[in-house]
Amino acid sequence: MRIVILGFGAVGQGVAHVISLKKDYLQRKYDLNPQIVAVTDSSGAAINPEGLDEELLLNTKTEKGKISSYPDYGVPGVDSLKVLDEVEYDCLVEVTPTDIDDGEPARSHIIKAMENGKDVVTSNKGPLALSFKDLDACAKRNNVEFKFEASVGGAMPIINFAHETLAGCSIESIYGILNGTTNYILSRMANEGSSYEQTLKEAQEMGIAETNPYQDVEGIDAACKIVILANSVLNLPVTLKDVEVEGISRITSESIALAKKEGMLIKLIGEASPDALEVSPRLVRQGSPFAVGGTLNVATLKTDLADDVTVVGKGAGSVETASAILSDMVNIWKKRK
Ligand SMILES: NC(=O)c1ccc[n+]([C@@H]2O[C@H](COP(=O)([O-])OP(=O)(O)OC[C@H]3O[C@@H](n4cnc5c(N)ncnc54)[C@H](OP(=O)(O)O)[C@@H]3O)[C@@H](O)[C@H]2O)c1
Repeated sequence: MRIVILGFGAVGQGVAHVISLKKDYLQRKYDLNPQIVAVTDSSGAAINPEGLDEELLLNTKTEKGKISSYPDYGVPGVDSLKVLDEVEYDCLVEVTPTDIDDGEPARSHIIKAMENGKDVVTSNKGPLALSFKDLDACAKRNNVEFKFEASVGGAMPIINFAHETLAGCSIESIYGILNGTTNYILSRMANEGSSYEQTLKEAQEMGIAETNPYQDVEGIDAACKIVILANSVLNLPVTLKDVEVEGISRITSESIALAKKEGMLIKLIGEASPDALEVSPRLVRQGSPFAVGGTLNVATLKTDLADDVTVVGKGAGSVETASAILSDMVNIWKKRK
């Protein structure tokens, strides 16, 4: 399977790392030999139709900061769309930054690959939250696979879990903690009695919250994930503007202490059902499956046959997120074989 990776930050590098780590395992178990034939970042590309060396890709990015400095096969300044047109490949791994205004550049990358008849795997929420139906239709029209497990909950399996493991069940609603940064802040506020501002500042110092935390703390990131789940699992044709969103920036240590006294915790919960599309702070009972701490994600799927099924997992991380991308790649390979 020849792979092009667009974006070589935390997730792109995680993908190169897991491919290198699992080479023998993938060959033995699935007869799959993933070959990275091109990688791009904002500096340009590394391209070799015979396959790039994963360790050399990682070392080049770490030491030089630019993938276009890859020895002999670096191409400075080349645009990702041009790479998609000129390189022979089977599957695009789209892992450029999320943009929730127009979904670019990922949206154009994904459409270009699909129109060229290539399968696509992505962790990028932006294009999915803004135009899920269009992308889904584009994949169907071009008879290609389109997989995005990593876009919701990083390593927490939920989309493929709903479609495959729970096949035969109707999923009626989904309810969950879908943002690790806000869960970390709320958990620490509950454990330490600290203020929102102080806890956010410490989370930023630790690299858990971004310098501009707006999309996380105001619930936008969780809302994007709710849109993806509503479309892909509940078949609801909604977009980001349909979600009612309230974040955690107005939560005080006093309200958390009051909740604790009553045996409750405050969590940022996303809900998708035919009646509700919402992200907001809600009370959950201490000791319930939703009382997870740190940066963990959790989601409950309400089903007709199996009742409630809950999954918990890491919502972010380089290798953790890459694990979901690898699982999508393996599933595409199994289908194509
Ligand atoms: N990190 C996680 O744990 C996680 C979990 C789930 C989902 N995601 C999603 O996965 C995607 C990637 O996340 P990340 O953490 O890896 O982001 P990141 O560390 O910021 O990396 C983004 C990469 O994309 C490159 N890039 C920017 N514009 C580009 C373009 N036009 N063409 C090609 N490459 C371009 C950047 O280049 P430079 O290196 O030159 O700046 C960088 O290598 C995002 O959409 C994110 O929301 C991330």
